[in-house]
Amino acid sequence: MTIAVSDLGGHMAGAVEGLDLGRPQDEADVRALRQALLDRLVLCIRGQALEPLPYRDAMRIFGKPMKQITPAATHPDCDEILILSSEDRDTLGDGGKLVVGAAWHTDDSYKAVPCALTMLYGVAVPSTGGDTQFVNMYAAYDDLPADTKARIAGLRVIHQYDSSRKGNKVAKRTAEDMARMPPVSHPLVRTHPETGRKALYLNPNRMELVEGLPRAESDALLDALTAHAIQPKYQYRHKWRQGDVLVWDNRCTMHKANADYPDGERRRMHRVIVQGTVPV
Ligand code: OGA
Ligand code: MN
Repeated sequence: MTIAVSDLGGHMAGAVEGLDLGRPQDEADVRALRQALLDRLVLCIRGQALEPLPYRDAMRIFGKPMKQITPAATHPDCDEILILSSEDRDTLGDGGKLVVGAAWHTDDSYKAVPCALTMLYGVAVPSTGGDTQFVNMYAAYDDLPADTKARIAGLRVIHQYDSSRKGNKVAKRTAEDMARMPPVSHPLVRTHPETGRKALYLNPNRMELVEGLPRAESDALLDALTAHAIQPKYQYRHKWRQGDVLVWDNRCTMHKANADYPDGERRRMHRVIVQGTVPV
């Protein structure tokens, strides 16, 4: 088949219909899907009905699926699938409702080698609400004034799982898990390894401090860059349909979940992440 990508968000995001990810794809289609993701940053493949293993295998189109590290939420039939559910609770912490990713973030930035891409497959979606919002971090970087670009060139930021600046509750982890996740340092502006384009690399939920800056100055800079990046003009808001497989590039976007769907309605996502590289 020849892949046709329709526009979703104008400046970012596209949709593909009529493709069955449960079947092997030919080489031209694989190339077209990869290119569409690089061009559009967020790609929605509609109308899928996939068992866990075929879903995991299909995501090899985009990269190397990684084993999940949260045993409680890992799919019993597939080590690479994490289940995100409206029934999730913070079992190690206060037992309260847990909405993964309710504040703006990019996935995995607390790791030295963050995942490149994330896939969410909408197994059950609420009748209304529960959208996922995205921002285009290439555009946010491109639009910065020249003096700001000069000021932030070469700066690095400490990211950590339980940042003091975080905007949402994160699942409590065991002391052993925390010891395996020491703070890491990433560039504030990163160059996408495949497109060569520069993007702001922010994670309001995990950034702790700009290296070498006093706390107040670091906070002011990170707050200002974040406020700039999340402006509506850089956003795309995905309204889920059941069967959507949404793929996004964490190297040039941020995203956030919305827990605004009606009480008692189910939202269940099967999540895969694929291997990334050290941000430069
Ligand atoms: C994630 C995430 C958002 C959502 O899976 O990394 O942030 O809308 N999900 O569920
Ligand atoms: Mn996320």
